[in-house]
Amino acid sequence: MVLQNILANSPEMDVSYIDPRLREHWNRKLKRANALAPMSSLKKGEVTTESYQIESEKLGRLGAAQVENEIDLLDKSVSTLGKQIITLGIGLMRDWGFVKKANQLGMSILALDVSDYACEMADRFFASQVLPPGVENRVMQMDVNQRLGSHCGIEFLEPKKTFIIYAAQFLQVLQGKHRGEDRAKRLLFGLSKFLEFEHRRVVMVHLLPEDNSHRKASRLGESIMYPLEYILPPLSGSLQTRRIEALRMQKGMFYDDTYSAFTIVKR
Ligand SMILES: C[S@@+](CC[C@H](N)C(=O)[O-])C[C@H]1O[C@@H](n2cnc3c(N)ncnc32)[C@H](O)[C@@H]1O
Repeated sequence: MVLQNILANSPEMDVSYIDPRLREHWNRKLKRANALAPMSSLKKGEVTTESYQIESEKLGRLGAAQVENEIDLLDKSVSTLGKQIITLGIGLMRDWGFVKKANQLGMSILALDVSDYACEMADRFFASQVLPPGVENRVMQMDVNQRLGSHCGIEFLEPKKTFIIYAAQFLQVLQGKHRGEDRAKRLLFGLSKFLEFEHRRVVMVHLLPEDNSHRKASRLGESIMYPLEYILPPLSGSLQTRRIEALRMQKGMFYDDTYSAFTIVKR
């Protein structure tokens, strides 16, 4: 009984625990005008409402097209009916152009985010949709990093029915350490277990340092640029018995930054 109480009160063990500072940070940030514009372009005064809309649409299409292509490829190898796509981070849903196609093919979406603002927006969007029978779109509010380290392990990623995990501009915002370990690396190790299942893919939209030499440091404002040499090894998992690959790389500009959309698979 005493042990149960201790566990229930411990943030490490309580899977519903969310650091209020992280939650508030994203609530405040997402509500701002031009919320996800790069710091460098904001400082240079390049960001207007109009440019932000155009740039965001371009970036959104880059990510959405990558997921749509993966759905097409998946369609040929396995049935899409009853399958699921998980989005890590909702943001402003600028890149959710794939949702309609996924739903029409029988796939459901599970959207995960730490922010109330993002989750409420996604909830409203999902509620406004008419879905085919058997398709269910859901939102779950959580700190993804916290969950990966909980006793649920990767179970919250529902690996039996999830075929695509979509992490767009997500890895780059995971800053700092959790129990002495990089948050980003911790996420990648968690995803390696998901990739052990056959046909599973992780689709990322990310800032690669080799494309963005105009950025003076790997960290600027909110974003950290991680090279593929950092991203891929932890995704192989601890046994490293299978080859991990980044495929179908597409590039797109967002103001001065070059984003890459790519698909990670284990062979
Ligand atoms: C840069 S935004 C994603 C942008 C989105 N792809 C778009 O185009 O609109 C990052 C999102 O990740 C969420 N986030 C940040 N850290 C998180 C964490 N540890 N767990 C869950 N969500 C997190 C933020 O609330 C935010 O909505």
